[in-house]
Order: sequence, then structure tokens, then C-alpha cells
Amino acid sequence: MNLKNIKKEFPIFRNKVHNNDLVYLDSANSSQKPLVVVDRIYDFYTKEFSNVGRSVHYLAVAATNLYENTRSSVQKYINAKDKNEIVFTKGATEAINLVANSFGQKYLKEGDEVLLTELEHHSNYVPWHYLRKSKGIKIEFAEINVNGEVTLESIEKKITKKTKIIAITHLSNVTGAILPVKEIIKLAHSKGIPVLIDGCQSAPHLKLDMQDLDCDFYAISCHKMYGPTGLGILYAKKKWLEELPPYQGGGGMINEVKKESISYGDLPNKFEAGTMATAQVIAFDESIKFLNKIGIENIVKHENELMDYGQELLRRNNSVTLIGNPKNKGAVLSFTMKDIHPHDIATILDEDGVAIRAGHHCCQILHDKLGLAATARASLGVYNTKDDLDQLNSSINKCKKIFE
Ligand SMILES: Cc1ncc(COP(=O)(O)O)c(C=O)c1O
Repeated sequence: MNLKNIKKEFPIFRNKVHNNDLVYLDSANSSQKPLVVVDRIYDFYTKEFSNVGRSVHYLAVAATNLYENTRSSVQKYINAKDKNEIVFTKGATEAINLVANSFGQKYLKEGDEVLLTELEHHSNYVPWHYLRKSKGIKIEFAEINVNGEVTLESIEKKITKKTKIIAITHLSNVTGAILPVKEIIKLAHSKGIPVLIDGCQSAPHLKLDMQDLDCDFYAISCHKMYGPTGLGILYAKKKWLEELPPYQGGGGMINEVKKESISYGDLPNKFEAGTMATAQVIAFDESIKFLNKIGIENIVKHENELMDYGQELLRRNNSVTLIGNPKNKGAVLSFTMKDIHPHDIATILDEDGVAIRAGHHCCQILHDKLGLAATARASLGVYNTKDDLDQLNSSINKCKKIFE
């Protein structure tokens, strides 16, 4: 599939925003959906709908096969060893909550330490904070450097004998820093510490290989990967899924229920309680096909070129200060403008059809460290072009003029 005409695959770009073409620069928040994904949801509900994993009628068996087919596609896409290491959740947030709850319940006690970084999204902080409240654990934070990166050394400094799990982002949704996760995992494993990676921002932009990475847990957000909302993925090594207690109880996750006792279902059913996001899972298979058709190598190349172009453009614009200057940077351009609140920047850019995000981006700890209440953030997806970045820059200039 040719990236040149990729916008045509996304129906949203047929619409105007305030009479302008849409320049969508908010993919780190959520990506737009290609027509194949939207059509798949429509087709499933109009021609094939049934709940999965329960009834034996024709539609139920066919839907169950489709649902499991996506699990196999995800397994291949992220190169997991076993299909049953893929657990569907309602989002990456739920995937992390699952690990914090189940791991915390079984393995954490008062005084134990969980190591995060200052870059973490609230989704990878608040679930651990609950354990601070309920179990008396301690949370440590590996610090960022002046470039907005977290290095291997910064992680190493915070590991103690009490560190029981390390939970870190792969790619920061604010500074764009790509963490040396493979090295961090190697170091952690040499000390017997498991690692959870928050892969929300990396999964749409980088090649994923769970076996090569050797992480214990990896959380993915499908709505940022050109997939439907209400769906996430937890990859977990089989050993953990076997050892950990279930996160939620209900139908579908049990084997046998008696008045006195309950036994749990096989993997991954043990972690998929209740009716799941069936249509979303089935449609997500189309997102994976879509990504495969373009090829992750082409996505990386395209987005790196755009990032070089965008960074250069904004660096030359002296009304803009870029936030973070990591050596290894993903598709995120966060910035501030002197004496203009990020919400005002976002509102003025919106008049031109330029969609960015403003605020703390669910990273208040990072913003506190940077001494900022908020930042503006332009983030990229496969459909973006250099023209989009030119429009961003000229709308920023317009914004500057308004406040002069
Ligand atoms: C780094 C990071 N972690 C976690 C999340 C939460 O993901 P989800 O919306 O799938 O729960 C996000 C979403 O913005 C994110 O950017």
C-alpha cells in the first residue's frame, strides 16, 4: 500500500473542519480509523453478529473463530511465542490495572518497591498508587535527564533489593523519548525483577517483537493502532498468566463453579471475564492487515522523515520551544509558546482545522518536573504529510500574531 495516497483510506479526511481540510495531529491521543475497520464493524453487526465462546449455533461458532483469529494475528504481529499469551482488555489502562492488581495481590507486601519513571502516563501510575494505599508498597521513579530521556543508568540507580517489578513506558507520549527497554529488561532479569512495558505509544510506530524483547508484560492500546475504541491488549508470558490470580470474576473465565469452590478456565479465558468487546476484536484484525499491508518498516521510515522535517521546522520557529530533545525520538512534538497558554494555541489552531492536544497529557508528574502546567502536542500517524506540518507551523505563526 502506497503511503502517498493513504489519507484516502480514512473517511474522516473527506470532511471539513471549520471549512478547512482536517490536519489531524492528535494520533498519540487516538488514531483515525481506516474504512476497512469501520466496514468490518458494520458487516459483523449486520451479517455475522453473535456473542463468542458460549453457544454452539452457526453464528456463535463463526464469531468465536473470528475472535480467536484476531488473537492469532496479534500473536504474529508482536511475535509472541504463544497465542494464549494475548489477553484482550478494554484498553491499555485495563491491561496495566490487571497486572498491578493480580501481581500486587500475589507478590507485593508492605515495604516492597515498584519502579516507574517520571515519564509515566497516569495509567501506569495510578494502578500502582492503589497498592501503595492498600498494601503499603513504595513507588520509586527513575529520573529524566535534560533531554527528557530515561537512561539505563537512571533505572539502575533506583533498583534496590526491594524492587519487585519495573513498569515503564516504551515511548513517552510527551517528550517522544524511546527508552532502551531491551537493555532495561536484561538488567532487570539479571536481578530477578519482572518488567511491564507500557507500549501504548510504541505499538503504532515501532516493530514489536515480544520474544526478542523478553519482557514479562506489554500493554497495547488498539485505538491508537488504527483500531476500534474499547479494546486493548495485554501480552504476558505464559508463566505469569498461569501463576497470577484472575483480575475480574464472571462468566467465561471459569471452568467449574460449585457452591463451595470455583476453578478457573484455561488461558487466556481466565483473564477475559464477561462478554468481551467482540466486534472491536474482530475488526482489529483489519487494523493489523492494514498495518501489514503498509509494512512497519515503511511506517518507521515515513514517520522518521516527518519527525526530522517537523522538528527542524519548529526549531527554526523562534516563537516555539520544543519539549524534550531525546536522541531516540518517536512521533511526538510537544511544545510551548511564550506567554500563550497551550489551550489557547490548540483553540486557535483548531480554527484552521489543525487538531492538536493541549494539557498535561495524563503526565502530571512529568509536567511538574518540567515546571509546566501544560504543553501543546502535535503527534503523527501514517496519514500525515509534510504539508500537514507546514500547516501546523503557519497556524502557530498566526497564533503568535494574535497574541502580539
Ligand atoms: C503512554 C500511555 N499509556 C497509557 C495510555 C492509556 O491507554 P488506553 O486509552 O488504551 O487505556 C495512553 C493513552 O493515552 C498512553 O499514551
